[in-house]
Amino acid sequence: MLKTFDITYCDETSCFSLQTEHSTYIIGSADGYLGHVCFGRKVPDGSGLALLRKDEYSYMKGVPGDKCTFMDGFPFEYPTEGIGDFRPGSLAVRNARGFLGCELKLAGHRIFKGKKPLPGLPATFGTEEDTKSLEIDLKDETLGLCVTLSYSIFRGLDTVARSVTVRNDGSECLHLEKVLSACLELPWENREIVTLSGSWARERYIDRRPIGHGRVEIGSKRGISSHQEHPFLALAAEDASETAGEVIGLSLVYSGNFLAQVERTQHDMLRVGMGISDYNFSWTLQPGESFTAPEVVIVHSSEGFGAMSRTFHDTFRGHLIRSPYLHKKRPILINNWEATYFDFNIEKLLQIARTAKSAGIEMLVMDDGWFGHRNSDNCSLGDWTEVNEEKLPGGLKALADAVNEIGMDLGIWMEPEMVSPDSDLYRAHPDWVIKIPGREPSLCRTQLVLDLTRREVRDHIFNSISQVLKSANIRYLKWDMNRPLTDVGSMTTPGGEIMHRYMLGVYELQGRLTTEFPDLLLENCSSGGARFDPGMLYYCPQIWCSDDTDAMERLSIQEGTALIYPLSAIGAHVSICPNHVVGRTTDLYTRGVVALSGTFGYEMDITKMSDEELDLIRDQVKMYHRYNDLVREGDLYRIKGTSPLYKNQNNRMSVAWMCVAKDKSEALLSYVQIRGGANLRSEVLCLQGLDPEGTYASDDGKTFSGAELMNTGFVTDRLWGDGKAQIYHLTYRNQFEA
Ligand code: DGJ
Repeated sequence: MLKTFDITYCDETSCFSLQTEHSTYIIGSADGYLGHVCFGRKVPDGSGLALLRKDEYSYMKGVPGDKCTFMDGFPFEYPTEGIGDFRPGSLAVRNARGFLGCELKLAGHRIFKGKKPLPGLPATFGTEEDTKSLEIDLKDETLGLCVTLSYSIFRGLDTVARSVTVRNDGSECLHLEKVLSACLELPWENREIVTLSGSWARERYIDRRPIGHGRVEIGSKRGISSHQEHPFLALAAEDASETAGEVIGLSLVYSGNFLAQVERTQHDMLRVGMGISDYNFSWTLQPGESFTAPEVVIVHSSEGFGAMSRTFHDTFRGHLIRSPYLHKKRPILINNWEATYFDFNIEKLLQIARTAKSAGIEMLVMDDGWFGHRNSDNCSLGDWTEVNEEKLPGGLKALADAVNEIGMDLGIWMEPEMVSPDSDLYRAHPDWVIKIPGREPSLCRTQLVLDLTRREVRDHIFNSISQVLKSANIRYLKWDMNRPLTDVGSMTTPGGEIMHRYMLGVYELQGRLTTEFPDLLLENCSSGGARFDPGMLYYCPQIWCSDDTDAMERLSIQEGTALIYPLSAIGAHVSICPNHVVGRTTDLYTRGVVALSGTFGYEMDITKMSDEELDLIRDQVKMYHRYNDLVREGDLYRIKGTSPLYKNQNNRMSVAWMCVAKDKSEALLSYVQIRGGANLRSEVLCLQGLDPEGTYASDDGKTFSGAELMNTGFVTDRLWGDGKAQIYHLTYRNQFEA
């Protein structure tokens, strides 16, 4: 019987084995160098050490060969720059005289129950019952440098979380130029790379492609994880499908600049590295100081992309998202952004609230434009405590009281990291922004970024948010961030440290906020989904997924997002048609079905809806209450998608996915026909995740065996037209009922 949930060290072979539920991660060593052996299907402890090829081209133990050849071929677990390994390194260190070089040898290790937090950084957590950890110390005696590689595994999950701490134990300062968090060395044969790429309003489109010689890199230099690339990549067997084949996914728990690189080496291996970007990064370590790099969550699946996604979802729901709202049904909210943009006042908001209340909506969220004299995006960011009394006489308190009177809760929008040049805050503190002294910084959306590397700036921001939240009964905050970092300079912080210290500042602020206001429902946002990442999820249960609220576009955006993130984290609203981003008109029912697979809410002028539409909204509200537990807590199975993840699928333009209860007692199948077609028949969908021995009944009283639904398939209704949707609810019947 192969072991699960166990970490061991073998003295004789100097080999570490991490046994997760169905997979094994093995680290070996050769002459003190630490080497990556495997992360794959389960094998006994200590297997595969021959993969280190210790004696091939080795300079060691009297075997002919030179050191440089060895250094450039050995599968280092944490490779360093400057000493003869010409593949991408994970660590680049210069000594006090500026010479690049670091050579790490095994110096010790610790295995323990539970998991230590990472100072100042978001990271997975666990208890002594459900988590085990390993720390390996590596040393470069010449530099006086100690590198600690940390690994954690979680009961029942094929997940390994890795991070790195670098400490200067020497007597001279050291300069870090690159500190990645994890590296894997995998055979190239038959593997492809999967990434998530996009743009504003087109976030996280799935991309799958073969890997040629040379290097593939994705990353962000924007100071946010970005719309364009995502801190995730997967290496998948070329025949991996939704339900079969090996996939290894890596996800960085970080929200700023990142780098993920894969090099197919001269020996047809893949060196995979992930961590903070080395772009505009340099960090000085004085004697006694240390630097901790963020965590990478690595998931192994031998059952295709579906199992990889479910493992990420369970890892993030069980070990990353801390919000007390994680397992709660979130209030259905209506946000006024697409209804009014900046053009609103209390009467308009209350009209929306009254109609929304009559439809069963529970919270009004007032978006941008309630403070200073902000009637467009060109002013007042930073002046949070100056409520625009022309729009809101009596301030936030009067609005909250009136909304509460209607029977709804109030939420608000803020963009705490920013300042407008036309603001009292900027006029008082022009030096509080990120800029290079002597250079005019680029404006983006007519705003500048506050220098969150500085304590006094963070304290000011925190006090402003706190004052606003305490001024009225505000139950929800949408924390937005609408521009990249450019002209990266500071009055106080060294240039190469600003980008990372900025992120540490954001994390500190959100940490303080969630500690001081534990009942506040926090939703992060960044021009839609430019900072939708595991780092932000550590602080909030949900993130606005995209400014593109068109249901058809959302199918791809939400499919890519749900490749890693649980549906409970994906901010999704029903919005008005024609859609403001793409101009498409889609049935209100279909818009509801798509938003149901997320947090669910509305973003429209509900006062303009017809009675018939309001009735449909009432039905959607009922649907949300009926199915949200299943969507929030269940397992996601993709039956049919839009992305290149799916090879050899018929080209019918439709999508289907399922949420299945953990105990398999219930399932919700959502089916969307993107485009209708002539002379098409109904579709047959082979469902997944059900109990093959069980019997399931649909809401219209038909019964099916689980095996039949999964193996011969479920026949959908024949839908008529473009953008049509149907949901099917299945409940388990025991054999006596059936
Ligand atoms: C960008 C967000 O993604 C939108 O939802 C909205 O809040 C605007 N910012 C407001 O400026």
